Amino acid sequence: MHLRWLLPSSHDVVRPPPAIGKKRHSCSSTTTQASTTLTMPTNPHGTIILTGANGGLGTSIVSQITTSPSLSLSYHGIYCVRNTNSCPSLNTALTSHSTHSHSKYSLDLSDLASVRDVARDINGQVAAGVIPRIHALVLNAGFEEFTSDTHTADGFDMAFAANYLGHWLMTVLLLESMDRERGRVVWLSSWVHK
Ligand SMILES: NC(=O)c1ccc[n+]([C@@H]2O[C@H](COP(=O)([O-])OP(=O)(O)OC[C@H]3O[C@@H](n4cnc5c(N)ncnc54)[C@H](OP(=O)(O)O)[C@@H]3O)[C@@H](O)[C@H]2O)c1
Repeated sequence: MHLRWLLPSSHDVVRPPPAIGKKRHSCSSTTTQASTTLTMPTNPHGTIILTGANGGLGTSIVSQITTSPSLSLSYHGIYCVRNTNSCPSLNTALTSHSTHSHSKYSLDLSDLASVRDVARDINGQVAAGVIPRIHALVLNAGFEEFTSDTHTADGFDMAFAANYLGHWLMTVLLLESMDRERGRVVWLSSWVHK
């Protein structure tokens, strides 16, 4: 996956590599947010939110961001995993890039209360100016089951809830924090729906 569309377009002002302000914001501690490394660039382009950040493609996306100075130094990353206490692949992708400003959230897309908690926290941080507006919301998490048929506590089919309902609710709730000119929602899907 190429993330070139996140780079400044020819119409954007191309600034010299942003100086890193060593501002450490103290964020409110919530049950959803595990850790925050905020080393915010002085002129951040925006925030990138990624679901399924501990999975195969998710980790690959994080690696592309962290190994590209024009992305890692210009964007705040919000990486959502099912359990921030167990996300070894994401941690590996982040470990060697301590200058990348980011937060990790525990998010269960099959639990609409969890989606609401995460969205509320992110909206609060954008409204307070702690993090920049959302430039990209990358809906990458995916769940499938072939031999079983489980349901959520709300009674929805688990795959429908995790892949569609949770992501749909998250998108609707985060619209207020999107960058109104450049904000994008990227939804990864699969032929499995056929
Ligand atoms: N890989 C391919 O060839 C391919 C092809 C077509 C489409 N895709 C799509 O690309 C996306 C990523 O695929 P992938 O291969 O990277 O899959 P993956 O390695 O299985 O990663 C999927 C991620 O989604 C997370 N997830 C599952 N259920 C969740 C839930 N209820 N709440 C929050 N997170 C949840 C998983 O978290 P846990 O780690 O906690 O389980 C996992 O990290 C998927 O949407 C998939 O449909 C992939």
